Amino acid sequence: MNTAVHSNVAILVLVVLFAADPAAAWRPWPQNANRMNVSDYAFGDSKKYEGSSEFVKLRYHMGPVLTTNITVHTIWYGRWERNQKKIIREFINSISAVNSPRPSVAAWWRTVQLYTDQTGANISKSVRLGQEKNDRFYSHGKSLTRLSIQSVIKSAITARTKPLPINPRSGLYLLLTADDVYVQDFCTSVCGFHYFTFPSLVGYTLPYAWVGNSEKLCPGQCAYPFAVPAYIPNMKPFKSPNGDVGVDGMISVIGHEMAELATNPLANAWYAGQDPTFPVEIADLCEGIYGTGGGGSYTGQVLDAHDGATYNMNGIRRKYLVQWVWSHVLNYCTGPNALDH
Ligand SMILES: *[C@@H]1O[C@H](CO)[C@@H](O)[C@H](O)[C@H]1NC(C)=O
Ligand SMILES: *[C@@H]1O[C@H](CO)[C@@H](O)[C@H](O)[C@H]1NC(C)=O
Ligand SMILES: *[C@@H]1O[C@H](CO)[C@@H](O)[C@H](O)[C@H]1NC(C)=O
Repeated sequence: MNTAVHSNVAILVLVVLFAADPAAAWRPWPQNANRMNVSDYAFGDSKKYEGSSEFVKLRYHMGPVLTTNITVHTIWYGRWERNQKKIIREFINSISAVNSPRPSVAAWWRTVQLYTDQTGANISKSVRLGQEKNDRFYSHGKSLTRLSIQSVIKSAITARTKPLPINPRSGLYLLLTADDVYVQDFCTSVCGFHYFTFPSLVGYTLPYAWVGNSEKLCPGQCAYPFAVPAYIPNMKPFKSPNGDVGVDGMISVIGHEMAELATNPLANAWYAGQDPTFPVEIADLCEGIYGTGGGGSYTGQVLDAHDGATYNMNGIRRKYLVQWVWSHVLNYCTGPNALDH
């Protein structure tokens, strides 16, 4: 990677694909309010496609992918409640769980496992929680930039007590920011992103993902459809499956970033588009699609829990709503609750 790639704009973001993307990727970003006709938001009125294969040229660019057992090292930045941590930990533990009821989180990850590296090795089936670090007192403040995020990670791996292990080959560093933390571009164009740390700043090249709790700042964007932005009239938010709008909204973004990080950890493996500094990755292509028929503001066919909550897959003990990912085998977005399974 040359230094140009190290500029701020080079970070792989969970991008606004509204105008450029041929597939149905969608999130209710504020700028969409001006671009879209309000009637387009009516349920069932949106174009129902689960991503079109016609224009998507997802290609492998010969770089490594995460083929060995993945260990997720989590940094809890700011104040987190015990129950919020539980919801997220259990989602990560569910990825490799063998006996969750169908449709399961583990079956969702199977689409990610279909991706391989040059040697034909698949993405690892095994995803484990690693060590955790609490950064309770906001060591780098309540407003982070893309660069200061790397400093947060550096602090976690160099801490005097219980530093996170250094694991460039199979570690996935997951920085989760509390609901009172602003991160550069949060809420206007991203809900999370993934990239890798720079040896010059951190000492190692470590793939990491950041996801923010949007509950206070922009639930209508980043916790959609459990919250709905004011500019979409007459749409009731869905009930979230674990009773925490911010955290339930984060789950899909965490899934999005983990799937992309596993298939494109160093920005030189699986992505579509010409520009490696602005790639379209396997979850970008399916943003906002949670079930068959999904597209635009319509989530697709999802499931109702007995308490009225909306979900599309089961973890070990909990239910989750997680966006689908692109299958390069099928050439469309898919997930465990697809009706053609
Ligand atoms: C909204 O869309 C409808 C039907 O597509 C069209 O008739 C109407 O003029 C549009 N309104 C605006 C403000 O663009
Ligand atoms: C590995 O990837 C290949 C190519 O996509 C696929 O055919 C195969 O089923 C995958 N194996 C596993 C265990 O997912
Ligand atoms: C990977 O994880 C599996 C269980 O999921 C375990 O059996 C295996 O020993 C692990 N491999 C390594 C190299 O740690």
